[in-house]
Amino acid sequence: MKWLIALSALIFAVNLTLSLQILAVLPLSMKSHLAIGNSIVNSLLEAGHNVTAISNLIPDKPSDNYRVVQIPDVMKEFQDQEPNPFEYIDFPIFFSVIMMPPFGADMVKLVMKSENLDAFLKTDEKFDVCIMELFGNEALMGIPEKFNCALIFYNTYDALFWSDTISGNTSPASYVPNPFLWFTDNMSFKQRLVNTVVGLLETTVHYVLHLPWQRYLYNSYFPNAKRSFNDMYKNSSITFINNHVSSSFVRPHMPTQIEIGGIHVKPAKPLASDLQKYMDDATDGVILFSMGSYIDGTDWKEEHREMFIKVFGKLKQKIIWRYSNETLPDNPGNIKIGHWFPQRDILAHPNLKVFITHGGLLGTTEAIVEGVPVLGIPVFGDQMMNLMKTVARGYGLQVLYPDLSEETFGNALKELLRNRVYKDKAKKISKIFNDRPRTPQQEVVYWTEYVARHNGAAHLQAESVNFNYIQLFSFDVYIILAIISLIVLYIEFKILKIILRKIFKKSSNKKKNQ
Ligand SMILES: *[C@@H]1O[C@H](CO)[C@@H](O)[C@H](O)[C@H]1NC(C)=O
Ligand SMILES: *[C@@H]1O[C@H](CO)[C@@H](O)[C@H](O)[C@H]1NC(C)=O
Ligand SMILES: *[C@@H]1O[C@H](CO)[C@@H](O)[C@H](O)[C@H]1NC(C)=O
Ligand SMILES: *[C@@H]1O[C@H](CO)[C@@H](O)[C@H](O)[C@H]1NC(C)=O
Repeated sequence: MKWLIALSALIFAVNLTLSLQILAVLPLSMKSHLAIGNSIVNSLLEAGHNVTAISNLIPDKPSDNYRVVQIPDVMKEFQDQEPNPFEYIDFPIFFSVIMMPPFGADMVKLVMKSENLDAFLKTDEKFDVCIMELFGNEALMGIPEKFNCALIFYNTYDALFWSDTISGNTSPASYVPNPFLWFTDNMSFKQRLVNTVVGLLETTVHYVLHLPWQRYLYNSYFPNAKRSFNDMYKNSSITFINNHVSSSFVRPHMPTQIEIGGIHVKPAKPLASDLQKYMDDATDGVILFSMGSYIDGTDWKEEHREMFIKVFGKLKQKIIWRYSNETLPDNPGNIKIGHWFPQRDILAHPNLKVFITHGGLLGTTEAIVEGVPVLGIPVFGDQMMNLMKTVARGYGLQVLYPDLSEETFGNALKELLRNRVYKDKAKKISKIFNDRPRTPQQEVVYWTEYVARHNGAAHLQAESVNFNYIQLFSFDVYIILAIISLIVLYIEFKILKIILRKIFKKSSNKKKNQ
């Protein structure tokens, strides 16, 4: 009996240390995408699993359980010359929707051009699970198909259209604003109308153009695949969503859509001593001004720079501005500039009063973790939506780029510094954000192991993953109902006509008889 217990304990121990062989596909090289992909990979490595990543980023130090199959920097190949980031501002929504299918197709082609990947695909290695970013690159499902492993997707944003479709989920247009639009979950009739039309356009482009294109690419790049594109599509297990309900609008998720918002936020590290002293000495507080990795302080137009300096010069607070030049012309003395600052760690300093940001999801999430009020100047992509959420949740304000002036920007900044409401709200949301049964890192590890344990976890999937576009939105039902209503209306109209004719005949007969 005793040895039986000992044996089962031993088996249990062996089971616990069993490391999974994981394949990670990180096709996008933008910082905001890699930050999420690499955080997922690191969580799995720390849990003792063995990861092979298809990525453009080679790790600094080699390790036993991490290996990279290097692919080219896809984003670099997309844009030869870097455009001024502010050029994206007036990008029409219609183009954003239409642009996705060719973007996704180009990305797949660039990734598949890699010779390293080609050689890797000829090996017969074994993997338990594949974790892949989903951003218009469904054709790359040929990679997990080749290795015959369970497939987990991740989304670097809230549930986007691709992830909703693959999970059989739908986003009701009545209260889930499209990320391309600038609405909240409380929409006027006109906004709901626009939201519905944009949603229909997106759905149609997705089913009519995007998925067939990806299916075509899948078939041409993976001609020996045993499982079809559709099989793979329906066979994906779960999707990690980079979102958390506390910082977002409440919306439906399937049990396969797992929130891991905050995964990239590491514990704060101590600041370098000069920066620490600079912030400690700022008894009136510090403002951090950083527009993410794409927009440097020097990218601003001259008039904007002068305006910022004028506003900052009138404040008691100190300002830390990511501005990549040796000097800042007309620096009023309270602005510290630099090529790079440890944003995440600065946000954790108790003297930090306001974070001026473009509204990227990485930065706004870091601000939530630390409970720092936000002043947003959105530029492109999802930034407007992130800031709409911030404003709706009451822990920040935003000024649109075309409206930027000494008055609008200065007033918003002063309001955030003066009014305690924003700080209190930010602290409250921070508490909710950090109050979870598992950290986002644990969430990733738990669900990845869960998928491996349950052979893909098909029991979590809704029947709707098997539906087509028409079934999913019940278009067929609505059409039949509309036809029946028309027929009924027509019959009623006919009957009414007969009755009216009889009545009129009678009255005219009466008149004649009089
Ligand atoms: C991790 O995977 C690589 C490549 O398949 C293999 O060489 C290595 O032995 C594995 N390490 C562990 C700890 O399983
Ligand atoms: C939603 O918006 C309407 C119109 O702007 C407003 O009257 C209403 O109070 C808002 N509802 C909530 C719950 O904020
Ligand atoms: C950059 O620094 C140089 C040298 O200090 C200065 O002359 C120039 O005005 C600065 N330019 C900008 C855009 O800040
Ligand atoms: C995918 O297919 C395999 C083999 O048919 C099956 O074992 C697994 O449960 C499926 N996974 C999902 C999520 O449907």
